[in-house]
Amino acid sequence: MKIAILGGDGFVGWPTCLHLSNLGHDIHIVDNLSRRWIDTELGVQSLTPMDSIQERCRIWKEVTGRTLHFHLLNLATEYERVKQWFAEHRPDAVIHFAEQRAAPYSMKTDRHKVYTVDNNVGATHHVLAALVETGIDAHLIHLGTMGVYGYSSVGAPIPEGYLDVSIDTPAGPREQQILYPTRPGSVYHMTKSLDQILFQFYAQNDGLRITDLHQGIVWGTHTDQTRRHPQLVNRFDYDGDYGTVLNRFLIQAAIGYPLTVHGTGGQTRAFIHIQDSVRCIELALADAPKSGERVRIFNQMTETHRVRDLAQLVARLSGAKVAFLPNPRKEAEENDLIVRNDQFLALGLNPIRLEEGLLSEVVDVAKKFAHRIDRSRVPAVSAWTKEIAERVDRDPERQALRPAS
Ligand SMILES: NC(=O)c1ccc[n+]([C@@H]2O[C@H](COP(=O)([O-])OP(=O)(O)OC[C@H]3O[C@@H](n4cnc5c(N)ncnc54)[C@H](O)[C@@H]3O)[C@@H](O)[C@H]2O)c1
Repeated sequence: MKIAILGGDGFVGWPTCLHLSNLGHDIHIVDNLSRRWIDTELGVQSLTPMDSIQERCRIWKEVTGRTLHFHLLNLATEYERVKQWFAEHRPDAVIHFAEQRAAPYSMKTDRHKVYTVDNNVGATHHVLAALVETGIDAHLIHLGTMGVYGYSSVGAPIPEGYLDVSIDTPAGPREQQILYPTRPGSVYHMTKSLDQILFQFYAQNDGLRITDLHQGIVWGTHTDQTRRHPQLVNRFDYDGDYGTVLNRFLIQAAIGYPLTVHGTGGQTRAFIHIQDSVRCIELALADAPKSGERVRIFNQMTETHRVRDLAQLVARLSGAKVAFLPNPRKEAEENDLIVRNDQFLALGLNPIRLEEGLLSEVVDVAKKFAHRIDRSRVPAVSAWTKEIAERVDRDPERQALRPAS
């Protein structure tokens, strides 16, 4: 299959390109490299030394003999070029990772909010409009987030995208399925909620075939393919904006930094290992909806954990200390989370559970590249409101208070 991987230079996109290329697909990476520019803006770098995308593709060719094509294109701002690209390349499937994906980054300032909405909603809508205009019947797979459901305890399992409701009508109650009401907790999550409406419309109006994967927090770094050569290594974010919770704990443990738990650490979140993430995309690809079907929604996660339990687990493994800090986010202090993921299990996903072997693999990667870490970039300091900004802890190590003598 000819597959366009939008955002194929990113953390989940890159291993997906390798995984699907390894399976024999013809891979076209479309990326504007904005994530690399954001590293420059924030003054951070991936913990792992990441080569240019051109060099990564060259190494993959050297290792496997397979070609990865790279196309530099901004999906959000260059609509005419996007349309031309689709008309010229006519992919059989499109996998859409190309969005600004950090909730803290999306909440930094008004400029970051505007950028995140313009970039994410713009990119998604341009892809949909271009598919319709060029008449390409490609299966579009989008990476959404579990965060669209919101993180308040509902006392019932979160279904896969749709909620059964009973509506009172003059003829009596009628059963219906509606999109699960969204409750985004950040501007980033809000863009994923908006994406859902765009998908619903284009599936119903134009018969586009769309799968939306509501993904949990991805942890780990290596997949079978990124292990094949040191220069195929995946990017790995540790900073307060882009680092995700479990990966951050593991990195903090590796460099002797206190594990930064926000609030009580009572937040429960859904997780998935990077290897399972790429496998789920393979499974979704093989199970495309038909034209005219509603958007297919999968919960792409394998387990849920409470943040303070994860911190305690990592602390037990590594001897790290846990620091409870004021929460920069506006969110429920404690929540339960039960999630259904029957569809991927039925398609044959055999989940990688969070187990100590893989946790220590990440710690080993972090130790190997510890010299690349700027400790001042570790705290999460993007606050959800101006009031919360006043109580953010910017120095959990108490470096600033260290006596000079
Ligand atoms: N990493 C996670 O834990 C996680 C969890 C849930 C969902 N997701 C979703 O999965 C997708 C991929 O996440 P990731 O962690 O790989 O993110 P990432 O930031 O590492 O990768 C995103 C890629 O998209 C590119 N991109 C962004 N805007 C673009 C545009 N306008 N035009 C072209 N390219 C553009 C970036 O340059 C980057 O290479 C995102 O949509 C994200 O919301 C990720």
